[in-house]
Amino acid sequence: MQTQKKMGNSSFFALVLVISLVPANHVLCAPAPSCEPVEATDEDRLQFTLNFELLVAEFFVYGAFGVGLDVVAPGYAMVGPPPIGTQKANLDPPTQRIIENLLVARLLATEYGQDAAIRTLLYKIADFIVPPYGITVAEFTDKISNLRNQLAMCGNKDEGIIVPKQLGAENRTESNILSADANSISYDRTPREILRISYGTGNASMPGGFLPQGGNGVIAKSFLENA
Ligand SMILES: *[C@@H]1O[C@H](CO)[C@@H](O)[C@H](O)[C@H]1NC(C)=O
Ligand SMILES: *[C@@H]1O[C@H](CO)[C@@H](O)[C@H](O)[C@H]1NC(C)=O
Repeated sequence: MQTQKKMGNSSFFALVLVISLVPANHVLCAPAPSCEPVEATDEDRLQFTLNFELLVAEFFVYGAFGVGLDVVAPGYAMVGPPPIGTQKANLDPPTQRIIENLLVARLLATEYGQDAAIRTLLYKIADFIVPPYGITVAEFTDKISNLRNQLAMCGNKDEGIIVPKQLGAENRTESNILSADANSISYDRTPREILRISYGTGNASMPGGFLPQGGNGVIAKSFLENA
């Protein structure tokens, strides 16, 4: 299987990591104070969402074509800086086509099902060992999900592509194409959680990871100013 030897590129997994970062506008309340929704106007929330859409789009563009949005669609990046530290993913031809199609879909703002499409792809190769890491694709998705849950600190909202039955759809399946709880309700993350994850620090006031200089926009900046 061609895919097996070509799955070694960690940028593809970074892409998977970042895909689920895009926030929803409706934020659920959780009991722990650090999981409460942020106070913000709709406009600020939209700005936050769009900024993360841009980050995700950068990953698709770079992964598929080896260049950033500053080259492909400068209008979208406005005056934002070009991405650094990214590289073209080493994808086999079918995956390359799928990622390109998803990219086009995203730019046309019809991203529904994208997460499911990626998870389906990963599920097909769940048992493949990812060189040079020596763990399977399923284990990889599990570790990424655990890391996101750990950084966000608001419970189990991310799951790998294979999960124990009690977390699978309606308690009945071990495959986990749609990331959701047992009642198949999609998990939701607050901006604070999304920043903790994308900074890789578990702290919305401490930039790093995907955004080493911190996020732009009213919401992200409010956390930096309060630090
Ligand atoms: C799933 O199983 C757990 C216990 O194993 C139970 O509490 C829960 O109600 C079940 N959920 C559904 C949707 O069947
Ligand atoms: C988060 O980072 C800020 C800025 O570095 C720091 O002041 C704050 O103590 C950190 N919070 C936690 C819980 O570590």
